[in-house]
Amino acid sequence: MTGIRGRTSNWPAVLRVSEEYTMSAEVNFFIDDKPVQARAGEKILWAALDNGIEIPHLCAEREREEPFGACRLCFVEVEGRDLPVLSCSEPVAAGMRVHTRSERVDRLRRTAFELLMSHHDLDCKNCARNRSCALQKLAGTLKVSLRPKRFRKLPTEAPVDDSHAAIVLNPNRCILCGKCVWVCNQAGRSGVLDFVFRGLRTRVAPFRLEPLGDSECDDCMRCVDSCPVGALTRKKDPAESTSGPPGPLEQQQKA
Ligand code: SF4
Ligand code: SF4
Ligand code: FES
Repeated sequence: MTGIRGRTSNWPAVLRVSEEYTMSAEVNFFIDDKPVQARAGEKILWAALDNGIEIPHLCAEREREEPFGACRLCFVEVEGRDLPVLSCSEPVAAGMRVHTRSERVDRLRRTAFELLMSHHDLDCKNCARNRSCALQKLAGTLKVSLRPKRFRKLPTEAPVDDSHAAIVLNPNRCILCGKCVWVCNQAGRSGVLDFVFRGLRTRVAPFRLEPLGDSECDDCMRCVDSCPVGALTRKKDPAESTSGPPGPLEQQQKA
């Protein structure tokens, strides 16, 4: 909660102490009718995961001060609220009653996923993240095809950047979760990656669109490790599914 501390750094000491006390206090509330406890100010998403309750999510990072809120997958219902809320940005409160499933949140999550896939270059059997990909896992969780048909396909059609000795950046598989940009721009890091362009053309690229191999990249590989899909991969990553018969995921792709 350093962001809140940052905003209040000029407050008198007594107020800062009071704020820190409030942030460290525990609150009792309910998720899916299960009584749970979490630190006051904690976001519903992390409180749920800490208590073994899954909520689909792609862009949230626990250490991030301001939730990115891009993937729109983590919706939950909170009793007393008219509309579902994003669990990655909504703090817990004493007595709150959260429901992780409802017809409405299921529909919102499926729509968010289908929109993501509408501009995704789906080619799992030739992708280094095949069988360890967050999209594949989500398709199973949400019971949605990796190749949904509801929205018109709008491919990104950006060039793949394989100029770096160890990293491949494929913008056509990027889900714009922002994790790589965030880790790359953390204090002490090179700050090479950023979002470029706007709207449907938005993608991740090095500063001034230079090839990654010509950039100031310091080869820390944290961007690759943070990427939940096959958009940033190590060059030595094997395309595992090229061996053996097609599994259920490959069969689903063909459907
Ligand atoms: S990023 Fe995931 S869903 Fe997309 S092609 Fe690769 S393995 Fe398949
Ligand atoms: S390259 Fe990977 S980590 Fe970066 S925004 Fe795209 S999907 Fe997220
Ligand atoms: S995890 Fe909440 S919007 Fe992505």
